[in-house]
Amino acid sequence: MAELAVDKHVKYILAVEKNKDSFESVVMDHLRMNGAYWGLTALDLLGKLDSVNVDEVISWILKCQHESGGFSGNIGHDPHILYTLSAVQVLALFNKLDVLDIDKLDITGLQNEDGSFSGDMWGEVDTRFSYIAICCLSILCCLDKINVEKAVSYILSCKNLDGGFGCTPGGESHAGQIFCCVGALALTGSLHYVDKDLLGWWLCERQVKSGGLNGRPEKLPDVCYSWWVLSSLIMIDRVHWIDKEKLVKFILDCQDVENGGISDRPDDAVDVYHTYFGVAGLSLLNYPGLKAIDPAYALPVDVVNRIFFSG
Ligand code: FPP
Ligand code: ZN
Repeated sequence: MAELAVDKHVKYILAVEKNKDSFESVVMDHLRMNGAYWGLTALDLLGKLDSVNVDEVISWILKCQHESGGFSGNIGHDPHILYTLSAVQVLALFNKLDVLDIDKLDITGLQNEDGSFSGDMWGEVDTRFSYIAICCLSILCCLDKINVEKAVSYILSCKNLDGGFGCTPGGESHAGQIFCCVGALALTGSLHYVDKDLLGWWLCERQVKSGGLNGRPEKLPDVCYSWWVLSSLIMIDRVHWIDKEKLVKFILDCQDVENGGISDRPDDAVDVYHTYFGVAGLSLLNYPGLKAIDPAYALPVDVVNRIFFSG
């Protein structure tokens, strides 16, 4: 079996960040904050976060914060909670959460009467935003700023008969939304509301012949679902229901071993998103040499421990 091409992946991630004119950088310009989280967390898991200029990253992040408190995907774009979580996660990676004015963040204002969350002032509701709000506030140790009971009850209203969760009540079960709902329930101590066997069965059925995981029945396998499915299985304690060795092989088969980077499936073009989720998936699978990642916070375990246990 191929091995993880650590040095090649580090080079690839650093090159995407430096080469602002590349196709990938241009396409990602408006969501650069997410890209920063994916690339920098991957570098940390690979043990190479020290190759980055911390002051440059922090000063750029702060330039992306708006008067309303939210962060945008890049300077000059509109704020959205999707970018606020990435900004908070990157600050956590660098142990720089203290540069944040927590009272300015205003995540509380995005919670609706039914407990759901909107992503921005335009009001779209999605369980992704519930997870993001809860994860941000949990990292900042201020979950008491929202109505947690209502947030949990909204998430439970998005649970389906197949055990999975969708983006709104009645929405089709989807592994990405399941990660968000299970993650939010884990972070609020509410996992006892989940039928773990039923959900575990739906999740382990996502493994296809090649060993890869898909996000819904009948879909092709995709490396990013190694994260969405595996992290959920770990949180509900059913990860032993999939064939881990075959999944490791699938992820390794998606590497560009010459130029670095990981793609969604073998022989496709690589990108930073799939490189991160491939590395994060391997970390969840205890691949040797990688830092461990926390399945609920989607941050390295040592970063999470620093937030909660070293003040
Ligand atoms: C699939 O997306 C993934 C999701 C719907 C979940 C997204 C979750 C977040 C944005 C929360 C933050 C996440 C982390 C890890 C901190 P897709 O558009 O690729 O779905 P598709 O495969 O159906 O196209
Ligand atoms: Zn994908």
